[in-house]
Amino acid sequence: MIKKCLFPAAGYGTRFLPATKAIPKEMLPVVNKPLIQYGVEEAIEAGMDTMAIITGRGKRAIEDHFDISYELEHQIKGTSKEHLLKNIRSLVENYTFTYTRQKQMLGLGHAVLTGETLIGNEPFGVVLADDLCEGEDKGVLAQMVEVFAKFRTSIVAVMEVDPKDISKYGVVKAKEIENGIYMVEDMVEKPSSEEAPSNLAIIGRYILTPDIFSILRTTKPGSGGEIQLTDALKVQAQQNMVIAYKFKGRRFDCGSVAGFVEATNYFFQKFAQE
Ligand code: UTP
Repeated sequence: MIKKCLFPAAGYGTRFLPATKAIPKEMLPVVNKPLIQYGVEEAIEAGMDTMAIITGRGKRAIEDHFDISYELEHQIKGTSKEHLLKNIRSLVENYTFTYTRQKQMLGLGHAVLTGETLIGNEPFGVVLADDLCEGEDKGVLAQMVEVFAKFRTSIVAVMEVDPKDISKYGVVKAKEIENGIYMVEDMVEKPSSEEAPSNLAIIGRYILTPDIFSILRTTKPGSGGEIQLTDALKVQAQQNMVIAYKFKGRRFDCGSVAGFVEATNYFFQKFAQE
């Protein structure tokens, strides 16, 4: 039902310097797989077949990753290492990867607007690859597609967070309409714990309806001087067109060093048991 997934990946990743000086944050590996590949696999599991990636200067490694590497593949053909490339090779062969560059990093909202040429006029998924998610029975995006099928509005994934951490997130003011499903009335980007309208924080998974583009075109810079996706979603929320969904599963904040280490330990244990 939703075929395209947008990956805003143009940010500077300053929290991870110096690692991210010459390597995109999205290419940092958790165990032996780059963050963005986990996101692509989640989108495929949700039925999407076109990955629309927003890159920027210094991000060419992402394009090279989702392409054939003739020399390398020739070198390891017929050796015991050949299987290590099997999975990525099948992604490259069976799915479409499209790219556009965000020339100035004016914020997540601006990055999404830059993706309009790749998405067109249809609902689409959004994955912020530095939020690494593991769904309980199925992936978080696959869960969200089911919610979209019912409500046909934009969907934001939320999780409960501690008041002391709430100022790192966009936070929703919302009414629960079904178990774990909320109608969003308002949203605040990075509120203090006193200002926060709830403990439900938005994480890096969205399904957006395409009217978001025309709203973003007129959205002024907000918190931190950046064009915020939250501000555009607020406009949709005023028309009762945003649902918050408390996803079933875990999320690791791999944009921070602590979250990245936690994810690495978790997936190392998990892969060791497989
Ligand atoms: P973040 O604020 O987490 O990413 O943006 P960042 O700016 O790369 O990281 P720090 O804070 O400096 O360490 C959330 C997502 O939005 C993308 C980022 O790539 C990330 O996936 N983004 C952000 C853009 O694509 N363009 C922007 O202008 C800003």
